[in-house]
Amino acid sequence: MAKVQFGSKIGLIAATVGSAVGLGNIWRFPAEAQANGGGAFLIVYLACVLLIGIPVMLGEFAIGREGATDAVGDYQRLSPGKKWWLIGGIGILASYLINMFYIVVAGWTLEYLFGSVTGDLFAGISETQSSGVHFANKMQEYIQYDFGPLIFSYVVIILNIVILLKGVKKGIERMSNLMMPVLFILLLIFCYVSVTLPGASKGIEFFLTPDFSKITPSVIINALGQAFFSLSLGMGVLITYAAYYPKKTKLIGTATTVSLLDMLVSVLMGLIIFPSIASFDLMDNSYKGLTLVFVTLPEIFQQMPATQFWSVLFFLLLFVAALTSTISIGEVTVRFCQDRMKLSRVKSVLLVFIPLFIFSSLCSLSQGSLSDVKIFGLTIFDFLDTFATNILLPIGSLLMCIYLGWFAPKGLLVKQLTNNNSVAVRLSKVIIFIIRWIAPIAIAMILLSQFVKF
Ligand code: PFF
Repeated sequence: MAKVQFGSKIGLIAATVGSAVGLGNIWRFPAEAQANGGGAFLIVYLACVLLIGIPVMLGEFAIGREGATDAVGDYQRLSPGKKWWLIGGIGILASYLINMFYIVVAGWTLEYLFGSVTGDLFAGISETQSSGVHFANKMQEYIQYDFGPLIFSYVVIILNIVILLKGVKKGIERMSNLMMPVLFILLLIFCYVSVTLPGASKGIEFFLTPDFSKITPSVIINALGQAFFSLSLGMGVLITYAAYYPKKTKLIGTATTVSLLDMLVSVLMGLIIFPSIASFDLMDNSYKGLTLVFVTLPEIFQQMPATQFWSVLFFLLLFVAALTSTISIGEVTVRFCQDRMKLSRVKSVLLVFIPLFIFSSLCSLSQGSLSDVKIFGLTIFDFLDTFATNILLPIGSLLMCIYLGWFAPKGLLVKQLTNNNSVAVRLSKVIIFIIRWIAPIAIAMILLSQFVKF
């Protein structure tokens, strides 16, 4: 039984937003929006968050607060003697696998922060070489060389250990309270700078004006996948955090606030990236995906006055966002060890994170000297990403919806949504309908599309 609780409403929201806002918003969202038609993607994404993301998030909150323990234990308590706890097991497994590579990417952002502080990222841009080539080379150096990325991922692991050892209130909640507002302020500053650049309007138009003819099934599926990843669904994270919610916390209000803030960060990120690439005439540039943040943005900073200052701020922001997400992913397994295996907090944190030094090293090296090691034709890094994010995560959410919609103890969802009938909730019928029908069908579609791709 989780006896700890978040200390304040703000802290609880900051911690949950901290989990949701991460590399998914800052790095993955602009890349997905760019690849899926800009405004068309944005509108479908917003619809997916509002219509499916929020109800599924509520489902996780309900199970988590009712079960009040770890992701596996919750199902055992709610449906004893049944195999539903396996859904929690999938979440635990997925969260651990995701942490292996998420820590590595968080390490890259730290390396970029370090490179921006020392000026190394911008040093040696020659007259003869385009800045794009310079930053592409830098990216190779920062990501594919063995030594640097390893060291920085170890720093991320150590930071995780320190924060998680401090526990829920002093560690997670205090850190999120401090870091989330900083992140929003930085984003707003960047957004202002970006939309006021000369020629920014072409980018704003690309991002905000939907061309409905571009909405295809694959755009819908990608938008739904992005919504799930971005809201941290299907991984046991929100189930675990909800166990720390006080009984009086209003779940619908919390889910709506968290989802809207998460959406806001993604939209702000779009308003940072697209106007600036339009302004610097990089709209048709071949740099896409991963390189938007690691190559295109430094290129943009380089053309701005006070280059290093903006670069430091941006990578600080990216690192903060990544760190609060790794913390939430780690907490899933730590809580599992504490509650299921009855280990102390210290032992649990060490048991979870010490092996990550090895697993994350393998992931990190798979960008460099282990790049020839392939699983199903993918590097270790890509395999973990594809398997955990695109397969385990939707399977977890799908089974959670089926359980909650059809097999969970009667009235559980309504009881949690209404805080045991103490608050009136008009929308509960709609939410139940979505969890029973719409969400499972939509998730099954994402899954099918992933298998086809695989
Ligand atoms: N939601 C995080 C992001 O957008 O970066 C990523 C994430 C965190 C995914 C926690 C899954 C998770 F359990």
